[in-house]
Amino acid sequence: MWAHPDCITLGRVTDGSNKKARERAGGMSPARSAPGCPPAADMVHATSSLLLLLLSLALLAPGHSAKKCLLTGKWINDLGSNMTIGAVNNRGEFSGTYHTAVTATSNDIKESPLYGTQNNINKKTQPTFGFTVNWKFSESTTVFTGQCFIDRNGKEVLKTMWLLRSIVDDINDDWKATRVGINVFTRLRSVKE
Ligand code: BTN
Repeated sequence: MWAHPDCITLGRVTDGSNKKARERAGGMSPARSAPGCPPAADMVHATSSLLLLLLSLALLAPGHSAKKCLLTGKWINDLGSNMTIGAVNNRGEFSGTYHTAVTATSNDIKESPLYGTQNNINKKTQPTFGFTVNWKFSESTTVFTGQCFIDRNGKEVLKTMWLLRSIVDDINDDWKATRVGINVFTRLRSVKE
């Protein structure tokens, strides 16, 4: 409720049951809000509601997000690859499966296992994690590292970077054996949800 500043300075205890205020006013009822101003009690209520609103906004600000991102579940990335992460145990360890949409080889893609850990040192912040995919259709290995965030729409997002180590036959080809990239994963929801 908006009130003219004069209303705020004029506003006093208006509750007629306040004995002390009545005595101080020489036995008369203390002044009520100025004409045209909302009752003082309403103004106190409006002020406390505003303070509560500001407190809630501060708690939901980035870095203080109330919702915590969880790794467990099904995810899809910007390349169309899918992964499923199982339960994260109390040591932060997890395993799952990865189905890549692309390959650097000419082999037929097969679902492959992943093993990882989540950092649980601070239970209140959005966790960092890492996992390795041990490809079952190629001799390569990929390691991912990232952080689980809640975006501005309240959706979980995994921001990751990866290193893909491919096999080379000659040590002199080592320089070209590792690719690096970024993948962003969002949670895959089943049709029922
Ligand atoms: C290979 O090609 O040897 C194995 C598959 C590699 C797929 C890579 S891993 C990084 C990037 N992100 C994906 O989802 N797929 C590719």
